[in-house]
Amino acid sequence: MTEPRPDALPSAPSGTPPAATSGAPSGAATERGNAAPSSEVGAMFDDIARVYDPMNLLSSVFQEPRWRRRRVAMTGLGPGGRALDVATGTGKVAADLHDRVGPTGQVLGVDLSAGMIDVARRQFADRTGLGFQVGDALALPTESAAFDAATIAFGMRNLPDYRLGFAEMARSVRPGGRVLCLEIARPRSRSARFLRWWFDRIVPLIGRLAGQGSAYGYLVRSVQAYPAPDRIAEIMREAGLADVTWQGMSGGIVTIHVGIVPPPEP
Ligand SMILES: C[S@@+](CC[C@H](N)C(=O)[O-])C[C@H]1O[C@@H](n2cnc3c(N)ncnc32)[C@H](O)[C@@H]1O
Repeated sequence: MTEPRPDALPSAPSGTPPAATSGAPSGAATERGNAAPSSEVGAMFDDIARVYDPMNLLSSVFQEPRWRRRRVAMTGLGPGGRALDVATGTGKVAADLHDRVGPTGQVLGVDLSAGMIDVARRQFADRTGLGFQVGDALALPTESAAFDAATIAFGMRNLPDYRLGFAEMARSVRPGGRVLCLEIARPRSRSARFLRWWFDRIVPLIGRLAGQGSAYGYLVRSVQAYPAPDRIAEIMREAGLADVTWQGMSGGIVTIHVGIVPPPEP
C-alpha cells in the first residue's frame, strides 16, 4: 500500500539540533522545520498520550473544539468522502471528519506516536470507516491521490521539514482536493494577548503540575519560532499547492491555511 515519497524535496534542516532539556527534545522551530529528531518527538508524545486530551482543552482555554469544527467544515467534504488526518494524535479531528463523511466514507488518522494511536483506536473502536495507523508525516503510508482532503492540526510545527510535510499531504490528495493546516500563531493583536500569555506562562505550569513539565515546555518552544502565516502560505506553494489562503481565529492565535491540489502537469 505504501508508495515511496518524492525524493526531489530537500530533507531535514542541517546542523546539530539544540540539546534536549529535562528529558524532552528542544523543539525549537526553524524556518525549515523543527530541529528536534522525530524519534525523540514521537517518544515524548508517547509519554503524554494519556493526559493529552484534558491538557489540550486547558491549553487552548477550551477553544480547541471550536477550532477543530471550523477546520472540518472547511474541508469541502460530504457524505462518502475520503479524508486523511496527519499527526492525528488521539484522533479527535479524524472522528469529526468521520462524522462529516458518514458511515459510507473513509477516514485514516496517521501519527508517529504508537501511544497516541493506541488511545485513538480505543476511543473510536466502534466506528466503521475510521482507521488509525502509526506512520511518519514525512513518508505517509498512503497511495497517491487516494483522499479528497488531508488535514493536520497542531502537528506541522513538530515536523523537521514543513515543505516535505505539505508535499506528502498534497501527494495523498486527488487533484482539486484540499490540504488544510491548523496551527498556533503568534499575533501581536490586543485580543490575542491573553491567549499568548496563557500559552507561554500558564501551559508550562499546568504541564509541570501534571508531571509533564518538560514535554509542555517543548510544546511552547515549538511555537516560538514557527514561521509567520505568510511564510507558511509560501511553503505550501513551494510544496505544489495552489490557491493558498489563510485566516486567523481567536484574535489570530490560531491560523487555518487551505491549499488546493492542482491538476497534474501535462
Ligand atoms: C500537538 S499534537 C496534535 C494532535 C492532534 N492533531 C490534535 O489536534 O489534538 C502533535 C502530534 O503530532 C505527532 N507527530 C509529531 N511528529 C510527527 C511526524 N513526523 N509524523 C506524524 N506525526 C507526528 C505527535 O505524535 C502528536 O500526536
